[in-house]
Amino acid sequence: MPWQDWIRTVEIEPSLYGADFAQLGTQVEQLLRAECRVFHFDVGDGHFVEPITFGPVVLNSISPLVHRYGGVIDVHLMVENPAKYFEPVAAAGGSSVTFHYEAVEDVAETIRAAREQELQVGVAFNPESEPEDVAAASGDADIVLCMAINPGYSGQEFMEATYDRVRRLRLALANNIHIQVDGGVSAENIKQIYDCGATLFVAGTAIFGREDLPRAYRRLVQALA
Ligand code: DX5
Ligand code: ZN
Repeated sequence: MPWQDWIRTVEIEPSLYGADFAQLGTQVEQLLRAECRVFHFDVGDGHFVEPITFGPVVLNSISPLVHRYGGVIDVHLMVENPAKYFEPVAAAGGSSVTFHYEAVEDVAETIRAAREQELQVGVAFNPESEPEDVAAASGDADIVLCMAINPGYSGQEFMEATYDRVRRLRLALANNIHIQVDGGVSAENIKQIYDCGATLFVAGTAIFGREDLPRAYRRLVQALA
């Protein structure tokens, strides 16, 4: 599905890292029924980030369900040597790959490698990287992901400096490139992040940390309205 067709102005992406893996399919289906269409899938390799999370094997199990409802899976690669995973992610039903600016030598070349697999592509950057440097390197990407936490774990606190970093990124990036924010996004801060120029919001704890997942998803949607 072409990238432009995924996004309904803005998207709230449940981060499956926050799910209860004993009930992964059930939880994803509940969110699909609540009209959620873009899911965020965090791959951590135990090197670029401390935890080993999950990878293409789990992606392959969950993607048919998401596709059946017309949804897509946005894969956040918190890994060293990300290009190694582009082909397995595409084969397992991922629609995009977002790799870290800090993890590659050549951003443009890595973007090209993702396009070869017909994947949409994002460039993520950590709190210590400068938004302008990332924007200058990411001209051919579909998404730039501004981390609002140090990557690795769900459930960390949103860094207040993110607002200004998103604003700086918006000024430095072409308008057709989506800004995504990941880490500590909640119903309390999502509108302010949107006002700084972001359109894609990843939410782990704000959805999966609650009893009623569809209600938690709708609460975020309403906070943007
Ligand atoms: C962790 C991941 C995030 C994480 C977000 O570094 O990249 O996607 O699941 O979880 P919350 O929303 O709880 O910060
Ligand atoms: Zn993520």
